[in-house]
Amino acid sequence: MLRIRGLVKRYDRTRADAFAVRDVALDVGAGEFFTLLGPSGCGKTTTLRCVAGLETPDEGEIRIGESVVFSGAQGRVMPVARRDIAMVFQSYAIWPHMTVAANVRFPLEAIGIRGAAAERRVAEALEMVGLGAFRDRPAPLLSGGQQQRVALARAIVKGASLLLLDEPLSNLDARLREQMRVELRDLQRRVGTTFVYVTHDQEEALALSDRVAVMRDGRVVEMGSPHDLYLRPRTAFAARFVGQADLLACTAARPEGGLLLLHTALGPVLSACFPDAPGPRLSLLVRPEHIEFAEEAASGPNLVAGRIARTVFSGRLVEYVVALDSGASLRVQGTSGRLRAEGDAVRLRLPPERCVVVEGLPEDAE
Ligand SMILES: Nc1ncnc2c1ncn2[C@@H]1O[C@H](COP(=O)(O)OP(=O)(O)OP(=O)(O)O)[C@@H](O)[C@H]1O
Ligand SMILES: [Mg+2]
Repeated sequence: MLRIRGLVKRYDRTRADAFAVRDVALDVGAGEFFTLLGPSGCGKTTTLRCVAGLETPDEGEIRIGESVVFSGAQGRVMPVARRDIAMVFQSYAIWPHMTVAANVRFPLEAIGIRGAAAERRVAEALEMVGLGAFRDRPAPLLSGGQQQRVALARAIVKGASLLLLDEPLSNLDARLREQMRVELRDLQRRVGTTFVYVTHDQEEALALSDRVAVMRDGRVVEMGSPHDLYLRPRTAFAARFVGQADLLACTAARPEGGLLLLHTALGPVLSACFPDAPGPRLSLLVRPEHIEFAEEAASGPNLVAGRIARTVFSGRLVEYVVALDSGASLRVQGTSGRLRAEGDAVRLRLPPERCVVVEGLPEDAE
C-alpha cells in the first residue's frame, strides 16, 4: 500500500549534513497499522509529510498503492489533493464555527459528494467513532477526546486507502489517551484502512501497531513487530528506546550448542538470543521483569549474587536495584507478593533465552 525507497529530505540545502530524513526505505502492507517511533527531531513528521505531499523530498521514490506520487529520478510530484490519503494531526484542526456533522462533511464536499450520499457517509463515519448522537452539536462544545474523534471521522469519511496520523493523542490527558488508544486500534480494525502512525511514545507504539519502525537521526534503525522489537531487538538503540532496559557491554566467545558465552561486568553469561554474525561492539540486554530471584541453593549458569540496594514500591510492582558482588548493578522487577527489603542478600537468575545480545555499546544508545 505504501512503498518508500531512498527517501532523502534536507530543509537546509546549504548545509551538507543537515538531513531531516536520510535514505529511508519501508513497505507498509494493505490494512496494516504501521508506526514510526523515535525521539524528537528524528524525522518522523518529515517522513509523513513527504508521503502526504506537504513536503517535497530531495531524493527517492514514494508509491501509494499503484501510483508513484513522488520520484526524484523522474522529477514527478503528485499534488496533495490527488493522493489517496487522509491526515490527522496532533492539533485536531476542526472548524469551530461548524457543527460536528458539517466538519465531517467538509472533505466530501471538496470532492463533489453532496446530498443524501454525503449524509449517509457522514452518519457512518460518526457511528464508527461513537459520535452518532453528537452530529448537530457545535464542534467547540466537545471535550478534547471527542474533538479528536471528529478529526478521525473527518479523516475516514472519504474512504482514502491510507490514513496518516501524526501524534494524534498527544494533546489528551493520560487516562483519555489510553482509552483513545484502544478505540483507535478498534477503529482501524473495523475500517480496515492502512494506518501510518507517528509517535515518540514507545508504549503507545507497542500497544497499537502491527509493525514499528524505530527512527534515529533521520534513519530507520530497526523495524519489526512490537513483540520482536521488545523481546529480540537487534540494536542497543532500539533495546533502550523500546521499554526499560539495562545494557551491559560484553564480548562474545564462539557460539556453542545454540548458546553464546559472553564476558560481562556480571561475569560469564550464557545467551540464547544473539545475532548470526555478532560484530565487535556488543551489549547484553536484560529486561528487569525477566530476571528471576533464585533460591539460596540454586545451581547452574547465569546466577549472580548481591544485595538489594534500593526498592521502589509502586503497588502492583516493585522495582529493585541490586548491587552485585561483582560491582555491577541490575534493575529487577518483582511483585508485591513477596517483598524484599533494602540490604537483603539475593541471588538472581538471568534466563539465557532472555539474555539478548544487541549490536552497539550502551553509550551508542544514548
Ligand atoms: N520546516 C523546517 N525547516 C527546517 N528544519 C526543519 C523543519 N521541519 C523540521 N526540521 C528539522 O528536521 C529534523 C526532523 O524534524 P521532524 O519534525 O521530522 O522530527 P520529528 O521526529 O517529527 O520530531 P518530534 O517528535 O519533535 O515531532 C529536525 O532536526 C528538525 O529540526
Ligand atoms: Mg513530529
